[in-house]
Amino acid sequence: MWGRRRRAPRTVPTAAPSTWVWPLRLSGTTPTGADVLLRPLTLADGPAFQSVRRANAEWLEPWDATSPDPSAPPRSFGELVGIYDADAAAGRALPLALESGGRLVGQVNVGSIVLGSFRSCTIGYWVSRAVAGQMVVPTGVALVGDHLLGRVGLHRIEINIRPENTASLAVVRKLGFRPEGRRPHYLHIDGAWREHLSFALTVEDLRGEPLTARLARLAASEHSSQQSLARHTEAGPGH
Ligand SMILES: CC(C)(COP(=O)(O)OP(=O)(O)OC[C@H]1O[C@@H](n2cnc3c(N)ncnc32)[C@H](O)[C@@H]1OP(=O)(O)O)[C@@H](O)C(=O)NCCC(=O)NCCS
Repeated sequence: MWGRRRRAPRTVPTAAPSTWVWPLRLSGTTPTGADVLLRPLTLADGPAFQSVRRANAEWLEPWDATSPDPSAPPRSFGELVGIYDADAAAGRALPLALESGGRLVGQVNVGSIVLGSFRSCTIGYWVSRAVAGQMVVPTGVALVGDHLLGRVGLHRIEINIRPENTASLAVVRKLGFRPEGRRPHYLHIDGAWREHLSFALTVEDLRGEPLTARLARLAASEHSSQQSLARHTEAGPGH
């Protein structure tokens, strides 16, 4: 008979269990020689997390996601870690803490993981101002990107950036993401619905080259073209 008994909800992991690794740890080195470690955020990170967020409040505010519901209570650090763990265990997200020099310096958050015919995800990130400019974030994105497109078997990675965020636009440029267009009123950031530019990479774009290798190659070629421009400028016109 209808409505007598409710069926228990089926929990279907978003990611294929055989390819899903959680807790996940990934490590590497930036093209500038800094070490980078990606790992889950744990309750033990509470004091360090709060201290780095407090010290960088002004730096992060223009780019931080906000709740469109002004009455929503702020989340405690413990609640945040609980949500991260549940999402990661279900294959919906890879919420990773970013360490460099043995210190918690930021986050690389993979979300909106969808399988089926889409096999896509989005990545967001931030880093402490104290380590900005050392390519810690591009390296973190490259490390997790190789994991997602390799072991997890995703096909596409998307990153959305406010047009004013020149530092973040540099991150996708260094990794060779493709611009996909403008998304008006896309995300609730710093208290309002903000326009974003969308960038993506598919497996085809990489043509078999790991994202970490692509970052190193593009960084080296940017470096050499900057050096040749500097030599040309020093020599002056006509040389
Ligand atoms: C965007 C961000 C994640 C870049 O991370 P990063 O590890 O510093 O990345 P990079 O080292 O490749 O530097 C990227 C750009 O930051 C800028 N930058 C470099 N050194 C800097 C410094 N000391 N202080 C501020 N900005 C600096 C430069 O524009 C650089 O691009 P360039 O190398 O072409 O000059 C970081 O600036 C950040 O966390 N910003 C605040 C939060 C944010 O914007 N998150 C992303 C939302 S989409």
